[in-house]
Amino acid sequence: PSPGREVWSRRSVFILAAIGSAVGLGNIWRFPYVAYSNGGGAFMIPYLVALLTAGIPLLFLYYSIGHRFKGSPPLAFRRMSKRAEGLGWWQVGICFIIAVYYAVIIAWAARFAIFSAKGDLSSPEKAGDAFGNLTKSDQTSLGFDYVAGVAWPLLITWVVVIAILAFGVQKGIGATAQFFVPVLVVLFIAVVIRALLLDGAGEGLNSLFTPDWGALTDSSVWIAAYGQIFFSLSVGFGIMITYSSYLKRKTNLTGAGLVVGFSNSAFEILAGIGVFAALGYMAAVQGVPVVDVADSGIGLAFVAFPTIISTMWGGSVFGLLFFISLIFAGITSLVSIIEVIISAVRDKTGMRRVPATILVGAAATIVSMVFFPTRSGVSVLDTVDHFANEFGIVGAALTSVVVVTWLLRKLPQQRDHLNGVSSFKLGWIWMACVGVITPIVLAYMLIDQIIDTVQNGYGDYGGGLVAGFGWALQIALIVIAVAVGFTRWHKSADQVIESDD
Ligand code: PHE
Ligand code: NA
Repeated sequence: PSPGREVWSRRSVFILAAIGSAVGLGNIWRFPYVAYSNGGGAFMIPYLVALLTAGIPLLFLYYSIGHRFKGSPPLAFRRMSKRAEGLGWWQVGICFIIAVYYAVIIAWAARFAIFSAKGDLSSPEKAGDAFGNLTKSDQTSLGFDYVAGVAWPLLITWVVVIAILAFGVQKGIGATAQFFVPVLVVLFIAVVIRALLLDGAGEGLNSLFTPDWGALTDSSVWIAAYGQIFFSLSVGFGIMITYSSYLKRKTNLTGAGLVVGFSNSAFEILAGIGVFAALGYMAAVQGVPVVDVADSGIGLAFVAFPTIISTMWGGSVFGLLFFISLIFAGITSLVSIIEVIISAVRDKTGMRRVPATILVGAAATIVSMVFFPTRSGVSVLDTVDHFANEFGIVGAALTSVVVVTWLLRKLPQQRDHLNGVSSFKLGWIWMACVGVITPIVLAYMLIDQIIDTVQNGYGDYGGGLVAGFGWALQIALIVIAVAVGFTRWHKSADQVIESDD
């Protein structure tokens, strides 16, 4: 291994950190809604197919790249082929963009945890308006009217995350995951059990799980399933490469990938049950069908849930547990995205952990604080999020799969590397999943989204927001990535790594 590269103390720490990264807001607020609106119970079939043909195979691929080349994405790709370095920087750029807004959602969750504890969500009216009152998010074009109520929890979020990262791979990231992931599971199970005891929970579950078999013939349902899997496992933008680069030489990689992939899905289904049980209750209280209260994302977590909390018995405890779950799920994910950037900067410049963490952390904090705790913050966040997910992540994942499989033709070597260290052996099926099925699905998703967004814009946002924080930002990222890819490295980067695979 490269001299001085940090390592996880045990494989289980890596697995917990990888689960901590994967289990995030997507599990809690995205999956239930995506499943519900794409065939309900029948969605489980495309979802499972997507997990097995793309999600887990890609986890294996990125683990093998990080582990074999022992580097952050730019260094790992450079060691695979000198011209591929830019691909790694593209992933680093995506991480930076996601990090600066992901932190804001954690900050909101922190405020709502406090609201719950203080009893500020005690009536449906107060609860329903709490998000609007907190964020004052009435501007749909870029502005800089700051909102203190979001700014200070955001700053605290950054301080916490930077502190965790400054402690390094094992003592910071690993130790955090060892504590946060098990606690998250316990807290969230408590949330789900309480939700299941609410009146109307059964109705909610029926509406989530009643299968609409007709959905299986609809291609958009299949695309939604693949989309959910890519997003939820956060494959394709460098996290898995980075985390697996800190593994020791002899590590069962495919075994770890299976554990991470299935744990993430288990948490997702658990969240689906909890969320729809609660929505069933809300529908019953309001005397409306569940359809009318189902919402995804911000509306679900910060409007529907607070409303539920406000009317149920024990709501403040339930709310506290729910929002702490969001915070815990979010922190471990945010830590993983920032680590990609820190790791890349360190590999490129030879900087030490603490200065690199402060540099990267300060840059992210400043950008995050300038653009998001404002009256236009929610609009900017929503726009950046849409483009980062639909174009950035999908584009970078597609490019990396095509480059590795078809341009550099490295898939057989990666397979041999995986098989050399792992218990679960891979053959041509894995190569077909990674090299053929995945790129076809990703290309279809990308083209479909580009056409849709070009024709319809995004949301109700002004052209300036969509052009600047959408298109221009994503294109700028690629240009910068390529440019950085051609700049000089710190001297140890080009060391030949021993071929022990
Ligand atoms: N995969 C995470 C989820 O399901 C989301 C995430 C995004 C994680 C970005 C890390 C980085 O919520
Ligand atoms: Na996830």
